[in-house]
Amino acid sequence: LNIAIIMGGYSSEHQISLLSGQNVYKHLSKERYNLFRVIISTKKWACLDDADREYPIDRSDFSVQIEDEKISFHCVFNAIHGSPGEDGLMQAYFELLNLPQTSCGYYQAALTFNKRDLLSVLKPYGVKMAKSYYLNQGEEIEKDEILRKVGLPCFVKANRAGSSFGITKVHKAEELAKGIEHAFKEDTEIIIESFLKGTEVSVGVITYKGKTTVLPITEIVSENDFFDYEAKYQGKSQEITPARISEKEKKAVTQIATMVYKTLGMKGYTRSEFILIDGVPHMLEMNTTPGLTEKSILPQQALAAGISLAELFESAVKEALE
Ligand code: DAL
Ligand code: MG
Repeated sequence: LNIAIIMGGYSSEHQISLLSGQNVYKHLSKERYNLFRVIISTKKWACLDDADREYPIDRSDFSVQIEDEKISFHCVFNAIHGSPGEDGLMQAYFELLNLPQTSCGYYQAALTFNKRDLLSVLKPYGVKMAKSYYLNQGEEIEKDEILRKVGLPCFVKANRAGSSFGITKVHKAEELAKGIEHAFKEDTEIIIESFLKGTEVSVGVITYKGKTTVLPITEIVSENDFFDYEAKYQGKSQEITPARISEKEKKAVTQIATMVYKTLGMKGYTRSEFILIDGVPHMLEMNTTPGLTEKSILPQQALAAGISLAELFESAVKEALE
């Protein structure tokens, strides 16, 4: 079976995604599958062979000509964070081509990548969340109204981005404008949320051997002011798996994370972030192509559950091919 591992993407998360993709390439069985890495960038879509030689992808059918052989893929392993791999674009393209891929469907990807739409859909299901204020580029910034609604400190976030790109924690009213400007560099839509004081947990929900499975929960303790880019990728945080939370809290988070996965009709990997306040999970967001490097949270959770990375990655391929 020919498997294309797609990685890179068009967003600020390009480099992180290359690390995720390379790690999938490292662990997926090379005996069972013919693995090809496909780098997706704004400039080109290029397939690499095992000697790192580059061949252009034919975008009409996602095939590649290597020497005198035309290679078509049986499955795509999606390791792209951000657009176009996490926002539904690639999913819709592969669906049109009838090409199985490992992440969720195009609608689920588009919905969940949009933080404010995801939260609006989940609110009627009783999912708790921060107070929020939405702003689009070009709209007037009603500073007093924003602060009346969300208070201080608050978070300004790009609505559609990952790895904390575009996020600022605002402590003083004077810092708000700068935070908004920063978020608009990543997206034309932003979301400003009240600060939730509690225990931050990251919850991996995946389909494993045909079953919706909640992996051991991770507690995030950031050394920085919040779980920002440096905390995530330069060691300025502790990620403790399993989280030091009570059985009751664990049950509450597990129940909500499972309900969300099933209600939205997710498949493949998801990793959602919650803040536990007095035992009640408050949802921040969901990632449908979570980081897959050795150090990333979801792989750590799989290992804590006794699932090797080879098994984790192979299960996604098997599920996609079913
Ligand atoms: N967006 C990053 C890669 C994550 O969720 O792990
Ligand atoms: Mg995210």
